[in-house]
Amino acid sequence: MRRIGILTGGGDCPGLNAVLRAVVKCVAEEGGAEVVGIRNGFLGLLEGRFEALSGERVSGILPRGGTILGSSNRDNPFRWSGRLDGRELRDQDRSGTVLRHLDEAGIDVLIAVGGDGTLAIGEQFQQLGRQVIGVPKTIDNDLAATDQCFGFDTAVSICTEAVDRIHSTAESHDRVMLVEVMGRHAGFIALQAGLAGGGDVILLPEIPFQVASVVRAIEDRRARGRDFSIVVVAEGAKAEGGAEHYDRVVAGSFEPRRLGGISRWVAEAIEGATGIETRTTILGHVQRGGTPSAVDRVLGTRFGVAAARLALAGSGGRMVALRGSEIVDVPLRDGIERPRRVDVGGGIVAAARATGVRFGDEG
Ligand code: F6P
Repeated sequence: MRRIGILTGGGDCPGLNAVLRAVVKCVAEEGGAEVVGIRNGFLGLLEGRFEALSGERVSGILPRGGTILGSSNRDNPFRWSGRLDGRELRDQDRSGTVLRHLDEAGIDVLIAVGGDGTLAIGEQFQQLGRQVIGVPKTIDNDLAATDQCFGFDTAVSICTEAVDRIHSTAESHDRVMLVEVMGRHAGFIALQAGLAGGGDVILLPEIPFQVASVVRAIEDRRARGRDFSIVVVAEGAKAEGGAEHYDRVVAGSFEPRRLGGISRWVAEAIEGATGIETRTTILGHVQRGGTPSAVDRVLGTRFGVAAARLALAGSGGRMVALRGSEIVDVPLRDGIERPRRVDVGGGIVAAARATGVRFGDEG
């Protein structure tokens, strides 16, 4: 009988449990296999931590945020750093330990649910002859191989609600309020939540901004009697010729530098130039926590079913994806090699500009 292993790696997001539930239920319906959950992503494969995933275990998890398996984003088995048997190791190749644990557990197909980091590790195991199936996950929505990732819709809703709430307090106090949202290299969350929440200025990683242009947008509003302004900022936004702002470095992580704080820098500049009291809200992980939207539950379920079917067929090296309204499968490599960025000449940016939104690049 086939044994399908499944893990969730990288930063969590709403909808992961929908994927796990769908895989277990679909395999139970369509038959001939067992599903084994791996704890905490690739860390669980390094430590041999498994649990049987029964229908009972996944019952009731659809509305739950996070992942019942736990995750990890600093345990790349091909470049592992940490303490082992009393020794401090750096960038060690421990893939052999993973292969041994997979064999001991009798896992012949692995479903890896994660972003580009997790999918890249999965692809390396595929190259070593294992059957690995990818399920793309990123709230940033920055993988071109799929039209959308689950988690993104929920994040946009949470950010939109936050911008709405910030709006009323900004207006009451005649303040400039900045809302910093996630989005390392892609500004989809900022763009969509900024547009949906009626932001006045939206700063994206894809459009380097000039502080003077942002200040002008705020002064223009003031000249029109609008004494408050809302600026929605992606954490990865950069001033023209400037650098990204980092909050911390997470050692051993696939992408160790954690962004954060650009909005504080912009706020100081705005306050200094306009004299208007300027405040900042960094939404952080509230965007990734909590119950998934209906859209993300449906997408996660459809991805889970497609991944289960590929696993039952033993078809490794593939990644499930959304194309239009259909679920398809594409080479696993596509999940790693094809990043997606906001189309700065595209329809959403154009609609925003046409309704008076500024992006900080206006001369
Ligand atoms: O890539 C998803 C993401 O949520 C980014 O938007 C964010 O910068 C990063 O992960 C945060 O990761 P962590 O929770 O590990 O700090």
